[in-house]
Amino acid sequence: MKIPPLDLKRSNQPYTKGILQRFEKIMEENSFILGPEVKELEKRFRKEYDVPHAIGVNSGTDALLLALKAAGIEPGDEVITPTFTFIATADVVIRLGAKPVFVDIDKRTCNIDPDFIEEKITSKTKAILPVHLYGLPCDMTRIKEIARKHNLVIVEDCAQAQGATWQGKPVGTLGDFGAFSFYPTKNLGGLGDGGMILTTHEQEADKIRKMRDHGRSEGYTFPLIGYNSRLSSFQAAGLNEKMNHFPGMLKERQDIAAYYKKRLQNIEEICFQEIPPQATHSYNQFAITTKQRDALKQHLAEHGIGSLIYYPEPLHFQKCFSFLDNKKGDFPVSEQICREVLNLPLFVGLGESEMSYIIDTVKDFFRQVH
Ligand SMILES: Cc1ncc(COP(=O)(O)O)c(C=O)c1O
Repeated sequence: MKIPPLDLKRSNQPYTKGILQRFEKIMEENSFILGPEVKELEKRFRKEYDVPHAIGVNSGTDALLLALKAAGIEPGDEVITPTFTFIATADVVIRLGAKPVFVDIDKRTCNIDPDFIEEKITSKTKAILPVHLYGLPCDMTRIKEIARKHNLVIVEDCAQAQGATWQGKPVGTLGDFGAFSFYPTKNLGGLGDGGMILTTHEQEADKIRKMRDHGRSEGYTFPLIGYNSRLSSFQAAGLNEKMNHFPGMLKERQDIAAYYKKRLQNIEEICFQEIPPQATHSYNQFAITTKQRDALKQHLAEHGIGSLIYYPEPLHFQKCFSFLDNKKGDFPVSEQICREVLNLPLFVGLGESEMSYIIDTVKDFFRQVH
C-alpha cells in the first residue's frame, strides 16, 4: 500500500462542485478583490468566534505581520516567541525592524514553555507571540498572566490550530490578536494563500483594514503606509464552501488522532504531545517523538508510507537568524525534539485500512528493534 503524508486532492474533492459554482458567480460579478465572498468569510469568522473584527488578508504570514504592526511593534522592540516553529513566526518580527527573542519549548506539549518567558523580558519587550503548534493550544492562562503583569501584547499564531480551544474558548480569541493561515495544508485549507486576523481592538482593526490595502481609507486617500495584502475573492469562495463542512473535517482529524493514540499507546519508545485538561487539540499534525526517528521514517518509507519532519531544525539554527547570536545548546528541548519528531499521515479522507496499515507498520518496526 502507498500512503502519502498528505493528499489534498482527496481532502478537497468533495467540495469541488460547490467551489466552482461560487467561482462562476465571481466571474459574473467581476468581484475579484475584497468582494462579497471576502465579506461573507469575514462575517462568518466574526460570528463563529464571537469577535467584533475579522479581517481577511493574503496569507498567515501577513496576518502575523499586520497584527504586530497594528499592535505598534517598531524597530528596536523585542517579541518573545518559540524557536521551534515555522520561520514565518519570527521573520515577520524582523521585517518590522524588531527582534525575535527565542524561548525554549515544553517537552510535554512542544509549545512555548511559560516557565522561560519571564526571564527573557526586558524593557524593550513589547509582545509575546505564542504558537499553538500542530493544533495544540499553548498554556494561555499563564501566558496571559505574564502579559498582563508586564503590559505586553499577545499575538496568537493560530496557523496550525483552527478549531482548537483553551478553557472552552477558541484559539485566536484568547490574546489581543489571532492570526490564522489558510495555506492549503491547514485545517481550513484554501486553494492557495490566505489568512485572517481576529481582534477585539477597534482602532487596531481599522488600521489593519487600511494597511491590507496600501493604507487606503477610501478611493485614492491613503492616511497610512500599507501593503498589498488583500484576500482574493477566489480564495474566500473556496474557504466559504469548505467552512460549511469544517466541524466534520475537524472531527475527522481528531478521530484519526484518537485512533493512532489508542493503538500506539503501549509502545514505550513513542511519546505524544500531552494535552492539558484545559485544551482541545485540532490536529493539523499528528506528531510523535522517538529516539529511533530516522530509522522509523526509513522503515515507513520502505513500506510505502510517507511521513514528515516538522521541523528538522529550530529557528536559532537558521543562517538568516545567526545575527541574533544564539548558539547550539541554548534551547536544548527544541533541539532534541527536532531530532526526534515525526509526523504521521493525517488528512481529511485518510481511509481506515490506511490508518490500520500505518499503525501495523509502526508496530512492526518496534517489534524488530526489541
Ligand atoms: C506556525 C506557522 N506560522 C505561520 C505560518 C505562515 O502562514 P502562511 O503560509 O499562510 O503565510 C505557518 C504556515 O505555514 C505556520 O505553520
